[in-house]
Amino acid sequence: MVIDSNGQFRLMQRSDPVPGPGEVLLRIRAAGLNAADLQQARGDYPAPPGWPADVPGLEVAGAVEAIGGAVSGVGVGDRVMALVGGGGHAERITVPAELLLPVPPALSWVEAAGFPEAFSIAWESLVELAEVRAGDRVLVTGAAGGAGTAMVQVAAQSGAHTVASVRRTELHERMRALAPDGTRLDVVTPGEEAKHGPYDVIVELVGGPDCLNRVELLRRRGRIVIVGVQAGATVPLRMFDLMLARGRLIGTTIRGRAPAEKAVLAATIRESVVPLLARERLRIPVDTTFPLGDHAHAYARLGGPGKFGKVILVADE
Ligand SMILES: NC(=O)c1ccc[n+]([C@@H]2O[C@H](COP(=O)([O-])OP(=O)(O)OC[C@H]3O[C@@H](n4cnc5c(N)ncnc54)[C@H](OP(=O)(O)O)[C@@H]3O)[C@@H](O)[C@H]2O)c1
Repeated sequence: MVIDSNGQFRLMQRSDPVPGPGEVLLRIRAAGLNAADLQQARGDYPAPPGWPADVPGLEVAGAVEAIGGAVSGVGVGDRVMALVGGGGHAERITVPAELLLPVPPALSWVEAAGFPEAFSIAWESLVELAEVRAGDRVLVTGAAGGAGTAMVQVAAQSGAHTVASVRRTELHERMRALAPDGTRLDVVTPGEEAKHGPYDVIVELVGGPDCLNRVELLRRRGRIVIVGVQAGATVPLRMFDLMLARGRLIGTTIRGRAPAEKAVLAATIRESVVPLLARERLRIPVDTTFPLGDHAHAYARLGGPGKFGKVILVADE
């Protein structure tokens, strides 16, 4: 898949990439779609250096097909998944071996393709940045999407009392069913967020003109982690409320990070999150799948309303 000079997605035939030192070649079996793919097509979010500049796709699952020099611990045929800087919506990709995550045996390619981006940002936001603790009350806005369904599960797994804000009530039952056994999850509409607070941690996945009014919902020493701002990125802030709460605003993005930083994050996900996935303590809800050739419908679904979980492209056999 290529983003052409008019910002349109097109299928093109290109020669297979060749793995360099430290890299492997993957035969991609499925790839996740992300809002960043649409932003890149609009010209707002270029690929970071070192990744294909015009091929979208930030997360892949597939089998190792060839191995470059100076790679150990990986074999041809291994089932792996990875968060990549671009180039995932393709049949093949070269990936630094240090970014690879093993796919647990029971996990399908489709589910694996929906794991790396959502659970990397969820773990980093909640565990590393917000330092969520058992007993914390956590609010996740825009919770029914790919990132939100991961955030809610990571918060619940951390022992937090989690509140998922989902504006479509028809999705509330599916969201409730995501709560791992023995965890506390309330599903609310945006208008009900205040009465379920105050919160130790708020994960902002929506943005928009009023989103930082939520500082008034923070407990003392509360944290707001800003992850997604598609509904608006410039907002007023009641600074006095933030001061009274002695609160913290934390922003994060993953894509533009240096390779070494991405490798550190991948190691954390490999050690701390993949084992939960393997024990079926985490699930990857898949909204819809599309063959690579039906990319137009896939990207339309990604940008459309009412999704629950991830949209996934599936490669031809
Ligand atoms: N910082 C990073 O590194 C990073 C990583 C991953 C994702 N993100 C960002 O995080 C955001 C969420 O990602 P995602 O993959 O979960 O996207 P997604 O699958 O498209 O889900 C977005 C969710 O937000 C809801 N929503 C949109 N506008 C809303 C509004 N005005 N009020 C209430 N809910 C609203 C949608 O509900 P409807 O169906 O009702 O529209 C949907 O459930 C995106 O902006 C993405 O770019 C950032």
